Amino acid sequence: MNVTDEIKARIDIVDFISRYVPLQRSGRLYRALCPFHQERTPSFIVFPERRTWRCFGACGTGGDIFDFLMRRENLVFREALELLAREAGVALRPPGGGTAHSQRELLYEINAGAARYFREILQRHPAAQAARSYLARRGVDEATAEAFQLGYALPSWEHLQEHLMGQGYSVAQLLQAGLVKHQEERDSYYDTFRGRLIFPIHDYRGRVIGFAGRVLDDSVPKYLNIPETLLFRKSRVVYGLDKAHRAIRAAEEAVIVEGYMDVIAAHQHGCHNVVACMGTAVTAEQLRLLQRYARRFILALDADTAGQQATLRALHQARQALARQPFPGVRAGGGIQTTPRLAAELRVATLPPGQDPDDILRQNPQQWAGLIQNAQPLVDYYMDVVARQYDLTTAQGKSQAVTEVVALIAELGDALERDHYIQRLSRLVHVSEEIIEQQVGARIRALRLASRHRGSGAPGAQREEADRGRSNGAAPGAALHRLLEPTALQERFLMAHLLREPYLLIWLAEAVEAYELAPLDPADLRRIEYKEILRGLKRFLASDEPWALDHFQDTLSPELHPTLADLVVYAEQLPDSTLPEMQVAVLKTLLRIRMLRLREELQTLQFLLEEAQEGQAFQDLSAAINTIRRDRHHLERVFSRVSRTLSPPDPGGTGAALP
Ligand code: UTP
Ligand code: MN
Repeated sequence: MNVTDEIKARIDIVDFISRYVPLQRSGRLYRALCPFHQERTPSFIVFPERRTWRCFGACGTGGDIFDFLMRRENLVFREALELLAREAGVALRPPGGGTAHSQRELLYEINAGAARYFREILQRHPAAQAARSYLARRGVDEATAEAFQLGYALPSWEHLQEHLMGQGYSVAQLLQAGLVKHQEERDSYYDTFRGRLIFPIHDYRGRVIGFAGRVLDDSVPKYLNIPETLLFRKSRVVYGLDKAHRAIRAAEEAVIVEGYMDVIAAHQHGCHNVVACMGTAVTAEQLRLLQRYARRFILALDADTAGQQATLRALHQARQALARQPFPGVRAGGGIQTTPRLAAELRVATLPPGQDPDDILRQNPQQWAGLIQNAQPLVDYYMDVVARQYDLTTAQGKSQAVTEVVALIAELGDALERDHYIQRLSRLVHVSEEIIEQQVGARIRALRLASRHRGSGAPGAQREEADRGRSNGAAPGAALHRLLEPTALQERFLMAHLLREPYLLIWLAEAVEAYELAPLDPADLRRIEYKEILRGLKRFLASDEPWALDHFQDTLSPELHPTLADLVVYAEQLPDSTLPEMQVAVLKTLLRIRMLRLREELQTLQFLLEEAQEGQAFQDLSAAINTIRRDRHHLERVFSRVSRTLSPPDPGGTGAALP
């Protein structure tokens, strides 16, 4: 038995999930209010026999105990595995790192060592007196400096280098960590940071991934960051997240400021849900990371950046990138429809001119609280900007303003709220409410179309009988197997294809888009190993490294290696097929996995519906059932279209045949 199966067999899922949410028995199932989104009627279901759980409400998440723990505690697979293995009393093999894996580990180690060294110097070195006074002058207390691991780099060209090389690291490794630089002409190496206050940059788990250094005077550049490394990608870093994520979750809100010093001051003054976006305008990646913890974001912008084109563009991009979730609603005529809505709320707090959060927090914490409290919803903020930016006396100015603001209004989930802004916009630009309403309506329809049938969730269980006969080289044992765990086989078949030809993943992304379907997502798969391998594969393809199976293997946690090996061996055994054949096979398999899953969801929901009788829960369930039926119908249509238009001739039932 595979290690994750063994763990799942030993830990009772009902007991396990009960520690986080009170479960209520309902026949053979258990239900609760979903811990992953706000809801009033319980749509979170645990299936003890299958050892899975699933939310049938708005968030649509699901999986096994690994998925639950990873999501609930924001863990990566390896962390969840270690915790659950310990609990189940299952031994894990120690991670015997492959090259890329151990390279990253090495960089973490070097960074940790460098951070300790800088910290030590700041605390004790006589030559760091100026830095200590500087921090004192800026009101940073000792506990805060310790929490943020602030340090100091001596004004020397090689102090750090010597220290770390004395610990056995090579100069090449330090170069990779970004802590030293190479001088071409003299072919010598020098420390990146000299005479600077050091701000280690941590990932959400508190590991040091990079550094910034600030001068103690007015020289430039004020801050220096290490260059991008294997660990440090500026657009993905959220400074302070390791110290802020609990508070962000508790407050259900993240406050985003611009500077390191702002974050530090905020935490010192008891505002623990504050993070920074590395000076640049906030990126989509940063928001997505934060979305794990909260759905409300407040951007505290300097008065001078507020309204700048670059800021608006960034906000626009960020909005687009934030996940949209379909929210079921009831149409006036009684039908059900889903409306995509921004799964996040963005607000903007504009700071008084010439002041940054650090100043305000130190001088007047009350004022800070007020600013955050009164942050404007993004729509209001845009309206103010638009009113300043466009000439609203001209037709062109009006039309630009309307287009921009309508896009935001259409994303609001609440009809009353939309009406409110339609009225406001109408008054602002002197265009009738009807016209604006029409535009909002058109925009909502476009959004709906774009997001229809996206991201449905749970694993499927039964296979359609019709397809069973067509499978390829089915031995009697295999047929039995298929009957028991059909999705597992589909998943294995899909994953094997992707490993055989990883660029199929890119092709697949385009193909599903053409059919208005969501891209292949780990959530489509049931096995935790497959999910992790798929995640790894996406990561690997997104990096610039050319495909090589062994390099790919190095990026995966060692516990996944046996599954990877199984897939590779299975892929070898598949009959030779052309690329187009593989494309059809992969696409059809994905469609099947989704259809199976929807069928399973439908069964569960119908069971729950029988129980619910009447009331709100009944309506919610009926709405969910309708959505699933429509999704399934769409999948079936696509499936037959794919079969008609893409299928290569298949005389012998081999080649592109599916399992
Ligand atoms: P600020 O100039 O507002 O810096 O830049 P700050 O954090 O408030 O620092 P103090 O208060 O002057 O000490 C905001 C952020 O922009 C990035 C840094 O991330 C900084 O925290 N920045 C700024 C740079 O990367 N390089 C620079 O030269 C300046
Ligand atoms: Mn500042």
